[in-house]
Amino acid sequence: MIQGTDTFPITRVETSRRESIDFDNLPFGTVWSDHMFVADYEDGDWQRAEIVPYGPLPMYPSCKALQYAVSLFEGFKAHKTPQGDCVVFRPDMNQKRLNRTAARLVMPEVPKELFFRAMNELIALDRDWLPDADQGSLYIRPSYFCTDPSLQVNAGSSYRFVIMTAPVGLYFSGEIGLVTTREFVRAFPGGTGDHKPAGNYGATLQASALAQAQGYQNVIWLDGIEQRYIEECGVMNMFFVIDGTALTPPLGGTILPGVTRDSAIQLLADMGIPCEVRRISVEEVQEAAQAGTLEEAFGCGTAATIAPIHRLGLDGVEARLEQREDSVAARLKAELVGIQTGTIEDRHGWLLSV
Ligand SMILES: Cc1ncc(COP(=O)(O)O)c(C=O)c1O
Repeated sequence: MIQGTDTFPITRVETSRRESIDFDNLPFGTVWSDHMFVADYEDGDWQRAEIVPYGPLPMYPSCKALQYAVSLFEGFKAHKTPQGDCVVFRPDMNQKRLNRTAARLVMPEVPKELFFRAMNELIALDRDWLPDADQGSLYIRPSYFCTDPSLQVNAGSSYRFVIMTAPVGLYFSGEIGLVTTREFVRAFPGGTGDHKPAGNYGATLQASALAQAQGYQNVIWLDGIEQRYIEECGVMNMFFVIDGTALTPPLGGTILPGVTRDSAIQLLADMGIPCEVRRISVEEVQEAAQAGTLEEAFGCGTAATIAPIHRLGLDGVEARLEQREDSVAARLKAELVGIQTGTIEDRHGWLLSV
């Protein structure tokens, strides 16, 4: 095991790309900071670990990551506070979720100490890549996969753990429309819907492409058994506000336990906004839309934070949602982003200073 308090070996870039990036117009997830962290697991233990220039990694085309999607990832963010400090939002949740997914793919645990030392040292080295609060945030992407060059469908023996970071701007701009799909399901009991393997994502692309062809941004995922209850949308957890109460589906094994969802439930309670965690059927939302009691819908996730939905296609029933300045989504977003960026007190101890 890689232990001790020494820093990881670092190979620095010769010339930083930082100056060539327009930080006032950051895209989402296509601009990468100068360096990345790479560690290898072999012969039953963690071996090499180092920080190197961000760039291609050699791997065999036969590796299990490529052949069988023995691969997973995580995503979370660091923000700059008004004092200029760098704070990371709830990375402990992502570290635990990463290892839950690893267990599902029979991959060795990434030790907590390795995860946090790597994250700290990488962010400290690429500190200049942390955007100002009004420009965006630094997205942190751990990626973990099997490098065994083997076609056997069984547990591997060699793995690579990588952390890369990307300065990011807004995930969505413009109106968001979502539509139910009955042709595709994202998850089902006993599947991997409540984990974060890479394979969960490629499998959604056809559904989102069809939603886009119909003029929506993404799909509303229904439960895989009855196709009656709403689970998530695109790559976000989902909330509705009906008659003054915020509603979100219970996790129940098929929904990704989102860090933003968990934070939103806590913040709604703090703000005195009624919130119920319970199953929500498509009919219930259709009926609320028709009765005029469907006040809001919003998605939540690390990338988009709180994303108000403008339009819902609910099995042929169209609902257009009014966007109010004092909406639950707007107030929740202000509270969440305020805590994340250090302008509102971190009363739940969610921030880690780097
Ligand atoms: C399927 C899915 N649901 C929900 C979320 C939101 O999770 P989080 O708030 O942890 O980013 C994500 C993003 O990771 C996701 O991929």
